[in-house]
Amino acid sequence: MECKKVLKQDYFGDGIVKLNDKNVFVSKALKDDVIKMELTDIKANFSRARITELVSLSPEREEVKCLYYNECGGCHILHQKYFNQLEFKVRKVKEILKHQAGIDFNLTIDDIVYEDRYNYRNKVVLHDLGFYKRESNNVVKIDKCLLLNDRINDVIAILIKSSLVPKEVMIRVSNFGEMLVVINGHIDNDILDLLRKRVTVLFYNGKFITDRKFIIEKIDNYKFKISTKSFFQVNYLVMMDMYRYITSLVRKVESKKVLDLYCGTGTIGILISKYVDSVIGIEVIEEAFLDCNYNKEINGIDNISFFCAKVSDKINDFKDIDLIIVDPPRSGLDRVTIDSIMTIGAKNIIYTSCDISTFARDINILKEKYSIISIKLFDMFANTYHVECVTLLSLKDAMD
Ligand SMILES: C[S@@+](CC[C@H](N)C(=O)[O-])C[C@H]1O[C@@H](n2cnc3c(N)ncnc32)[C@H](O)[C@@H]1O
Repeated sequence: MECKKVLKQDYFGDGIVKLNDKNVFVSKALKDDVIKMELTDIKANFSRARITELVSLSPEREEVKCLYYNECGGCHILHQKYFNQLEFKVRKVKEILKHQAGIDFNLTIDDIVYEDRYNYRNKVVLHDLGFYKRESNNVVKIDKCLLLNDRINDVIAILIKSSLVPKEVMIRVSNFGEMLVVINGHIDNDILDLLRKRVTVLFYNGKFITDRKFIIEKIDNYKFKISTKSFFQVNYLVMMDMYRYITSLVRKVESKKVLDLYCGTGTIGILISKYVDSVIGIEVIEEAFLDCNYNKEINGIDNISFFCAKVSDKINDFKDIDLIIVDPPRSGLDRVTIDSIMTIGAKNIIYTSCDISTFARDINILKEKYSIISIKLFDMFANTYHVECVTLLSLKDAMD
């Protein structure tokens, strides 16, 4: 096939090339690469392709230090210079907000907060001691990953010596040296013994084989219990930046009664509790909800109450709320929850999102009553196409 110049980067980090007036999405191609390609999937309106030859390189391209990158589905844009990754994410948020919510918000490179590009992840899930290939259930076996905290890579180095390969392994480290490992499937006995001595918590095929059943993480002067099934942010430094930013927004809007929806282990609610009269947290996973109450106790907080429920089932119980904080999973807010939020009519909303498409979909509805005051991006997931976004919204009536 003839040489083609890559015109643009799509929202998943792939390059876009035109062929007979149709878009071809080329995996791992960057704007201004000149490439030869092979079509891998041909559809009526578009095709997918992979690069067979890089004829000339985009100025955004850099050498990849990972041995598994060509096959592994974990990273998407490791081959892109970090500054250009940040530019890509800012542009992506701006464009998605414009196209999907009709909002033209002025975002610049100064609106994205970032920390380390490598070794930032404090959690990993391995399948058959590897990562899934992109859009596939086939696994690429790895012996380390550039994005992972070194202490996680040390555990992987031990695990891959086992002749038995466990189906799934989850490893999480706290910033203060504790480590939690959950294994489903079997590993050799000597490796199990070695691990038991190395880690804080080992949950092996449904049973704890360590005395400790949870790890502790610290955020500023607060401590947080994290259990095997609880959510916790994967990038400690960017998480700290993000929580400090959210706290600054909460102080700025001077609220009394706050809802912290999708509260995980209660982090945001607890961190902001001293700046407001009261906080109500809602979380659906029982183990995380129990962690919330434990975290409330160990931090000596008495103006926060937690409820274990689906947000949509519980939210209507609360009235006279002046600030609603939402931090939903990638699926965003469901329609019942959005309608309830609109009915409550809190003066302000802080929407924390890890998926810009569902966020834009929700903003498209919320914009009837709320205006966007500020947006800040956080590069929680460097080298992937994902980005975290914190938005402050204010009720239109209250602004008149
Ligand atoms: C992105 S995490 C945010 C957690 C927390 N705000 C934090 O910063 O650590 C989303 C949380 O929402 C919870 N969740 C998902 N769906 C839910 C629902 N329908 N109702 C309540 N909680 C839900 C998940 O278990 C998870 O803990």
